[in-house]
Formats: sequence, C-alpha cells, structure tokens
Amino acid sequence: MDLYEYQARDVFEKHGVPVLGGIVARTPEEARAAAERLGGGTVVVKAQVKTGGRGKAGGVKLAHSPEEAAQRAEEILGLDIKGHVVRTLMVAQGAKIAEEYYFSVLLDRAERRYLAMASVEGGMEIEQLAVERPEALARVAVDPLVGIDEAKAQEIVAAAGFAADVAPQVADVIQKLWGVYKNEDATLVEVNPLVRTEDGRIVALDGKVTLDANADFRHPDHAELEDAAAADPLEARAKEADLNYVKLDGSVGIIGNGAGLVMSTLDVVAYAGEAHGGVRPANFLDIGGGASAEVMAAGLDIILSDPQVKAVFVNVFGGITACDAVATGIVKALEILGDHATKPLVVRLDGNNVVEGRRILAEAAHPLVTLADTMDGGADKAAELAHAAA
Ligand SMILES: Nc1ncnc2c1ncn2[C@@H]1O[C@H](COP(=O)(O)OP(=O)(O)OP(=O)(O)O)[C@@H](O)[C@H]1O
Ligand SMILES: [Mg+2]
Repeated sequence: MDLYEYQARDVFEKHGVPVLGGIVARTPEEARAAAERLGGGTVVVKAQVKTGGRGKAGGVKLAHSPEEAAQRAEEILGLDIKGHVVRTLMVAQGAKIAEEYYFSVLLDRAERRYLAMASVEGGMEIEQLAVERPEALARVAVDPLVGIDEAKAQEIVAAAGFAADVAPQVADVIQKLWGVYKNEDATLVEVNPLVRTEDGRIVALDGKVTLDANADFRHPDHAELEDAAAADPLEARAKEADLNYVKLDGSVGIIGNGAGLVMSTLDVVAYAGEAHGGVRPANFLDIGGGASAEVMAAGLDIILSDPQVKAVFVNVFGGITACDAVATGIVKALEILGDHATKPLVVRLDGNNVVEGRRILAEAAHPLVTLADTMDGGADKAAELAHAAA
C-alpha cells in the first residue's frame, strides 16, 4: 500500500525524521485556515495524489498568505494529475531551501537485499539525472540482517559525496529513515527532496512510503491508512467478497483458480489477442481452490460489471474441487446472475473429472457459454469474441 505524502509525513515524524508542519485541507477555506494555523507566513499547497511529478503538473504551489493559500487550493483542487483527480491537499510550512538532496531505500528483489540510493542533486529532475548521469546517484547495497547502522549511513553519505559540514546530520537522518523502513515494514521509503535549509537544518520535504501488506498483521494501525475511496471500486468490491482481483486495462475478463494458472492465462490471452486487434486481459481474478457456485457468481458479477469487459475467459483446472463441481458452479452462477450476465463466456475445464464437467456445461447449453478444449483455444476464442464486440 502506498501512502499519501501527508501520511508519510506523519510516519516520519513518529520516527524522529525532521519534517515541517503540514495540515490536510479539502477545500480552499480549510487551506486558508491551515495556513493561519501554521503562522500566517509562507506555505506550500501540495496536491495529495499517489503518483509522482506533482510539482511539474502544477500540483505544488507557494503561497505567501492565508488568502493566497486559499487561491492556490482553488487552482489545485480538481486537477487531474496522471489520471488522479486531486481531492485532498496538504498545506505545508514553507522552507527556505539552500540545497535539495535525494535519498531512498527499497527492496531489491533480484539481489535479495535492500538498496539505498542518495544524491546531492535531488529535486524534481531526479529521474532525468538517473538516466543521464547515473554516477551522480550513489547506489549502496544494504544487508538485511544489518540494516543501515551508523557505518552504513556514513558509507552512503560518502558515496553520494555530501559535503563535510552536512554529512553527519544527513547520516543521522538516513538512520532515522531506516527506522521508518524497518519498523513499519516498508518496501520503499523515498525522500525527494531532502533539503538543507538556509539555517542549516536537514529536513524531509516530501515523502513516498510503500508498506508491505504481507506484514499488516504486525501493524493493526496501518488499516486506518488505507484509502478505500481512492481504490478502484471493483477492487474494493472484490476485497469485500474476499477475492483476489486486480483491474487491468484490456477487454477480456479472466477467471481462473490458482494464482499461477491465472497469471499464465493473462499471458496466453495477451498473446492470442495480438491476432485479434490487440485485445488484452481486463483483470486478474483468482477464485482459489474452492470455486464454489457462490464464489464463481461473485467473481463473474464483478467482472461483468466492468464496462471495459467484452468477453470472459473462465480457465479452471479441476483438482481437489473436481470439474463437475466447477461446471455446476458456473451453471448456478449464471442462474444467480440472470439478466446481469450479458457477455459471452468461454469456458475451458481440465483435470479431475473433466468429462463429467464438460457434459454438465454442454447439457445446460447456456447461450452465452462456449466450451473450449484447450487453454490456447479458449484464449483465442475469448480474444476473438472481445474483438468482435468492441
Ligand atoms: N515545504 C516546502 N517548502 C518549500 N519548498 C517546497 C516545499 N515542499 C516542496 N517544495 C518545493 O517543491 C518541489 C516539489 O515538491 P515535491 O517534491 O513535494 O513534489 P514533486 O517532487 O513534484 O512530487 P513527487 O515527489 O510526487 O514527484 C520541491 O523540489 C521543492 O523545491
Ligand atoms: Mg518530490
């Protein structure tokens, strides 16, 4: 789960990372009041969206008075930043910036350890810097068993070339950011910019934090950081139904049992789609081992509610739950859905008791259902139907 900047700010503060005052506002009036509470001086009005490049998109603006903060809020609220509409702002105390740095620590899956990155040339051009002058971005491996202790922090600071007068302070902040990473079970902590202010303080002016959902059981307090409203509405419904669903951009709805099978189904459908106008999978949905009628109905219901879906490919391998039970599940699910089921369904069953499963589906002879013998054949048929309906 990605946090909003204001949530990251709060988490930083909790772990002793130096931050500036920041207050959430949802209307220009609230922005004015926030600026007043921050002392009435210079503030920065910042769009709270879970995407990068806010500054460049006009989502970060200085204001020199509460009145001006309200005006800037008016301009930023409702902006569309890379598909994220701004509904929330943070009014932050304005810093007098002398220098902008960059620091991040993240999970490096390929190397099975963590990776810290730092640069004395932080700020909004960091992506460009990483491409054009990669040597200006220090990359230091972090042993998961040791973490970023004082020695490692000094190594990072030296590798990035921080000046001697700020190095100890930066090393101290880096260790505190490691504390955030470790104690909150994050997979990413990024600060851009980490700044030196004119009066010589090191402050985190922006924060991106991704928390590892696998560790949620250790952090009951993380639940309240979740933003149900911003999540995809279909994903929210799937979550309520306890289904493993991820919305994608294509038009072929996918249902399968087992994450591995569903992932390969996505590949096969994307490949088959190349011959049918480039149609692509519309979602990932794993209904798990059980594949009961109720679960099948809940899954189909969610997929069929997606207006982008033009055809559905149900790809189930009968194991402990045999194919006849799955076939009965599909037939009953279509009964439960009734008129809600309006899009063609291609079903491929294989595995335990497949002959009986196919017989049940053939006998039901539902007008929307096409049976496929193989995964490739089913993917091709579903792609063809989605293309024809587009
Ligand atoms: N509190 C602040 N006081 C003064 N200047 C600020 C403050 N916050 C941000 N800025 C300036 O605005 C720039 C952009 O801010 P910020 O890093 O928060 O957004 P961004 O980098 O565009 O967004 P993202 O990190 O999502 O890409 C910073 O590099 C900094 O120069
Ligand atoms: Mg930034």
